[in-house]
Amino acid sequence: MHVRIHPSVLAADFANLESAVRDVSTADAVHVDVMDNHFVPSLTFGPQMVQRLAEVSPIPLDVHLMIVDPDTYAAEYARIGAESVTFHVEAATDPQGVIDAIHAEGGQAGIAIKPGTPLAPHLPLLHSADLVLIMTVEPGAGGQAFLPEVMPKLAELRTYLTEHGLSPLVQVDGGITVKTLPVALAEGADTFVAGSSVFGHGTPADNIRALRGAATQGE
Ligand code: DX5
Ligand code: ZN
Repeated sequence: MHVRIHPSVLAADFANLESAVRDVSTADAVHVDVMDNHFVPSLTFGPQMVQRLAEVSPIPLDVHLMIVDPDTYAAEYARIGAESVTFHVEAATDPQGVIDAIHAEGGQAGIAIKPGTPLAPHLPLLHSADLVLIMTVEPGAGGQAFLPEVMPKLAELRTYLTEHGLSPLVQVDGGITVKTLPVALAEGADTFVAGSSVFGHGTPADNIRALRGAATQGE
């Protein structure tokens, strides 16, 4: 199975983002964490930054919006060049409307679910969403430990997708390493966001290779 690796530039050097995205050209997409000081305490990138990153990146951008009011702001990120735009269901007034607005701008739409948010009420959105992000840490910061207690949610998700013949990307984000990737993979995740474990030590290319290798262990 081809696993998708999405390095998160949250863990890269913000003064050298162009070289950071070049350093991860062997990955499948670059994960860009947009934080707004409101949905989460931190503040990171806005649309102008994301647009320039899309222009210089050798691989597509996977934008993760940790912002209030995605109803107003999400579609813009698709228009300026993100391949996929993922928003939090906890922040949206009309999640289906947000998905439709992202699609109208030509983007793929993702829904993100915080560790404490029940999945069941949001499952019907997967009939139109292209990606579902099951957070494996509380959103807001890199470098946190993977929460294994989220894993039953992945199993619940798989059951629903199989029953309904759906196949969105199943993304996990937070604390993904060579040790935790196989755990989430076994529960049905196929797309892995990794910040610290790609940019935090060694070289990004080697770290991406190691994550891909961890996915084939036991095959
Ligand atoms: C957390 C962000 C993550 C973060 C992951 O709020 O959504 O994408 O960059 O960082 P690591 O891989 O260090 O847990
Ligand atoms: Zn993220």
